[in-house]
Amino acid sequence: QRPSHVTVLGEQYPTDHMTNISPTIVSKLPLKLHTQPSHPLSTLRALIESHFPTYAHLSSLSPLVTPYQNFDLLSFPADHPGRSVTDSYYINKDLMLRTHTSAHEVDVFGRGETKWLLTADVYRRDEIDGSHYPVFHQTEGARIVSANATGMKELEEDNERLVAHLERSNIEIEDVPHLSPANPCQPAHDPKHTELIAKNLKLSLNSLMLHLFGGRVGATAGNPLKVRWIEASFPWTTPSFEVEVFFRGKWLEILGCGVVRQATLDNANVPDKLGWAFGLGLERIAMVLYSIPDIRLFWSRDPRFLSQFQQGEITTFKPYSKYPACFKDVSFWLPQGETLHENDFCDLVRDVAGDVVEDVKLASLCSGMSKLALTCE
Ligand code: PHE
Repeated sequence: QRPSHVTVLGEQYPTDHMTNISPTIVSKLPLKLHTQPSHPLSTLRALIESHFPTYAHLSSLSPLVTPYQNFDLLSFPADHPGRSVTDSYYINKDLMLRTHTSAHEVDVFGRGETKWLLTADVYRRDEIDGSHYPVFHQTEGARIVSANATGMKELEEDNERLVAHLERSNIEIEDVPHLSPANPCQPAHDPKHTELIAKNLKLSLNSLMLHLFGGRVGATAGNPLKVRWIEASFPWTTPSFEVEVFFRGKWLEILGCGVVRQATLDNANVPDKLGWAFGLGLERIAMVLYSIPDIRLFWSRDPRFLSQFQQGEITTFKPYSKYPACFKDVSFWLPQGETLHENDFCDLVRDVAGDVVEDVKLASLCSGMSKLALTCE
């Protein structure tokens, strides 16, 4: 029997046949890790924001959206698998948890924002393992310009600046054409304009990759940052791309992006604009930058996790036991007249227990009676 209402973020909502949100998921909604000072996801958000200083920075939009916002306004087909209750979390048939930050694109463009970043928690029903979690974080970035000579001049100037910056940097880019038969221009768009905006998208993101990864691969003449562009497909962008970065010996999928479709711009009431959008997953990037081995650790409230980080600093995570420390009190007596040095005891402990024992402290010593405290994991 399903309860008639669910309480989500302090509000009551009626349930129906689509309701599948669980108490665990409800408990994640207020946490907003990307705004918790010192949290790795917050530092990564701020690092991305610092690369786009002239953009609006949004990070407090409610995760509750309509399926219309999450899918229809972005031209997802009616039978897209992402809409199903096995893939997404529904409060009821009219309200769901956003599955991506793109769910806000139309609203934010519609508000008149032309350059913006939006960071938020997103929700997808998924398998359970060290790299999947039903809640994760994305940063969406977007820019639109007027689809006329003024807008194109703005892009040309920006492209020149970015080309000069990238030429001075140690980056190796494997590119694909801006447009191809599988990755066409929108019929309503001038292909020359699309070329310019696609170029601006690629330059802006190559420069972001340098900002995030550049200094960290020991970029020397022989060791440039490698970025690879791949053709992709999203219902609300064309041409569309994915970006991968070669980091610590592996190609890492970083983001999806593309030139926003006319239908999406029309839905946002900005039909005379042209623009790009990208969306990147924060956990995957934070996991490699901080060497965090398991996605579940981001949700830890253990001080052994949280105290390792400071806002604005990317440091290497030091692993600790999954279990809390356990203290043992060991007392022993020595025959009258015999002595035992603390170090002899430590060697004994090491022989028996190996590195599981973290610390051995002499607790008290009284007339022939020694007491040592062991701290073990
Ligand atoms: N929302 C897409 C995803 O979650 C990424 C994306 C954003 C693609 C913006 C294109 C444009 O995979």
